[in-house]
Amino acid sequence: MFYVICVNILVFLIFLAFVYDLKFRSCGRLPGPRRWPIVGNLLEFLWLDSGAIFDRLISYSKQYGEVYILDFLYDRTVVCASPSDAKRILTSYKFLAKSDDYGKVSEWIGDGLLVSKGMKWMWHRKAIAPAFSTVALRQFVPVFSRRAEEVCAKLEALADERPGEPVDVLPELKLHTLGVLCETVMGIPCGEEQDRQRQYTQVVEELKSILYWRMFSWFANFNTLFRLTPTKRRFDELVALSRSFTHDMIDRRRKIRERSKLVFDQDGNIDFERLDPRSKYSPLLDTLLNARLPDGTTSPNAGLFDGRPLTDEEIQDEVDTFSFAGHDTTASAMTFILYNVAKYPEMQERLYDEIVSEIGTEFSELNFQDLFKLCYMDSFIKESLRLFPPVPIVARIAIDDTYVNMVDIKAGTSVALNIFSMHRHPAYYPDPERFDPERFRKSPD
Ligand code: HEM
Repeated sequence: MFYVICVNILVFLIFLAFVYDLKFRSCGRLPGPRRWPIVGNLLEFLWLDSGAIFDRLISYSKQYGEVYILDFLYDRTVVCASPSDAKRILTSYKFLAKSDDYGKVSEWIGDGLLVSKGMKWMWHRKAIAPAFSTVALRQFVPVFSRRAEEVCAKLEALADERPGEPVDVLPELKLHTLGVLCETVMGIPCGEEQDRQRQYTQVVEELKSILYWRMFSWFANFNTLFRLTPTKRRFDELVALSRSFTHDMIDRRRKIRERSKLVFDQDGNIDFERLDPRSKYSPLLDTLLNARLPDGTTSPNAGLFDGRPLTDEEIQDEVDTFSFAGHDTTASAMTFILYNVAKYPEMQERLYDEIVSEIGTEFSELNFQDLFKLCYMDSFIKESLRLFPPVPIVARIAIDDTYVNMVDIKAGTSVALNIFSMHRHPAYYPDPERFDPERFRKSPD
């Protein structure tokens, strides 16, 4: 009797797997590695570390072309490395939702711009946009210049300490970009707090590695199972440390605003005529503190100052997002730029010659106009970002049935945009593995 029941259950399960599999196959006219019943492509990723997972995703792009599919159990992901499809996806309201992995990040940085979706994302984006205008950014150039001098002196000192030995520049650059961020995004002079900032960069590093592990571990991917692991306790401790760092920043900026009596005109903009000379510029955090969002009674076409202020939680989420998204990516980009400067001495020479001829060696502080004279530097940075994009893959979820590359996409399907492979596709960048800043040089006509 028991034997018969077991056989029946087994047959029923196989039947279900077969039916589901048929359903999956029917909506997939795209190439991709062989899908196994029930598990899909899970087994191919199961025991790989993060580097090997990344390599596998990239090698599939080479093997299967610009669009292929991967199934993890019954969760389908379309991996796309076509710029035109990426543009369509990123500008379509049908892909306004972020993928499930972003939800895991939100346990740390809350529901800020990187994670939020729909109307919330749109309104917050609108509120924050003025902080990224050219006028807003140019006020920070003196901070960039001063801080750059400081980090160069520090790297030089580290190199002198152990002549001939390599210097690990990434931790120093993280500290540097975080310092710049504190001054420009938060409006807090953080010169004396290096220990606390260093601790924050280390906390971020550990949080990132836990999140990466969760995304690709078959069991930690399930929230309930992750909660049973000792890593969850560590994760919570790290989140608390990270949040306390950003919370203090917000608190300090609020106090600075009170003390320095920043004056605002009736639209909530800083009135520069009456501004205390000690408060030279307006950081992004002030934009958030001044912003107003629709409160339910506001018309969709209302201006930015017609509704309610952001709640403390909304401000904290955005500040957490900017603190992480702003310093980590930039430090990684700078590390690869320096790597390429060191790897190609002739180009290094050319960069130096450009600085000497366009700006000279006797400048005390770079200004905004100077930056536009450094054309070769500009293409060098772009080429470095092409070959080593700090964010190599981003992902969205279809919120409605739609199509990509003439292939049906069902609502709920994840789409991963493979930036790394796009940047190395020979159709867009001939001889793609070659480092060549000339690709981005504008022709004289
Ligand atoms: C080289 C430097 C940087 C790179 C390569 C980079 C890359 C990216 C990418 C690829 C995204 C899209 C993520 C997604 O949609 O899943 C993104 C979003 C974002 N980045 Fe950056 N980023 C850089 C610097 C910064 C800086 C300096 C800040 C802040 C000061 C910042 C703040 C953000 C925010 C808030 C978002 C979310 C925007 C939204 O969804 O509306 N990033 N970044």
